[in-house]
Amino acid sequence: MTNAAINEKLSILPKHIAIVMDGNGRWANQKGLSRMEGHKAGVDAALEIVKYCGELKIPYLTLYAFSSENWHRPSEEVLGLMSLLYGYLTKESDSLIKNGVSLHTIGASDRLPELVRKALFSVCEKTKGGTRLHLTLALSYGARNEITRAVQKIAGDVQDGLISLDKIDETLVSDYLDTKQMPDPDLWIRTSGEMRLSNFLLWQLSYAELYVTPVYWPDFTRIEFDKALYDFQARERRFGLTSEQIVNPS
Ligand code: IPE
Ligand code: IPE
Ligand code: MG
Repeated sequence: MTNAAINEKLSILPKHIAIVMDGNGRWANQKGLSRMEGHKAGVDAALEIVKYCGELKIPYLTLYAFSSENWHRPSEEVLGLMSLLYGYLTKESDSLIKNGVSLHTIGASDRLPELVRKALFSVCEKTKGGTRLHLTLALSYGARNEITRAVQKIAGDVQDGLISLDKIDETLVSDYLDTKQMPDPDLWIRTSGEMRLSNFLLWQLSYAELYVTPVYWPDFTRIEFDKALYDFQARERRFGLTSEQIVNPS
């Protein structure tokens, strides 16, 4: 490849990155710290990656922060995570506004404690003018729950005569999901080595490139993020076509 071709390839950045921020507990364990210390370090890592995405002008970042399954963790851990989230929401809103970040959320937010839910929606409202980076926190999120809620809404709208059955296509289904305002992720990253989706964005990830690193989330620095971007840039995204069709589009 010529230098120009290499530079062009390096300039291809994903528009939407979705991250499963996993491994806080193991990171803490290997250092002899509590799981909560791991989660705190995880928040710091997330703040740095949010800043970096803004600098790189990656327009959409979705972070899996708390799954619908995580409600079944020991209650002290759930409570600790909720108070960490509340602290983040009350502290960070000014810096989000300053950096042009708009905050969004996906998931069953009605299950969040009222205080957290109010703080969350207040920051989403305050930051809605931000256009540099759309940061989405997946909270109390499970893809099967999201799809089930969408099916309920679609069925309700059909029943009320707002839409007819023949109008249901892939675009309409996407528009009933929590992610309706966003493009599908083109890169999915999971830290800490697990090779599973864990109920994250099952519909939206249908053509995402997958990247798994053994690094625990608190150690996921800008350098680790760059490695994921380089890996992404080396992929040939064929979307079902042949390689020949991608190289020489007709
Ligand atoms: C990810 O780290 C954070 C949340 C799920 C909230 P974990 O807490 O899952 O860390 P491990 O997987 O136990 O190491
Ligand atoms: C997925 O991590 C959820 C988040 C990162 C918020 P988990 O640690 O909960 O996933 P499993 O249990 O390994 O599948
Ligand atoms: Mg985990």
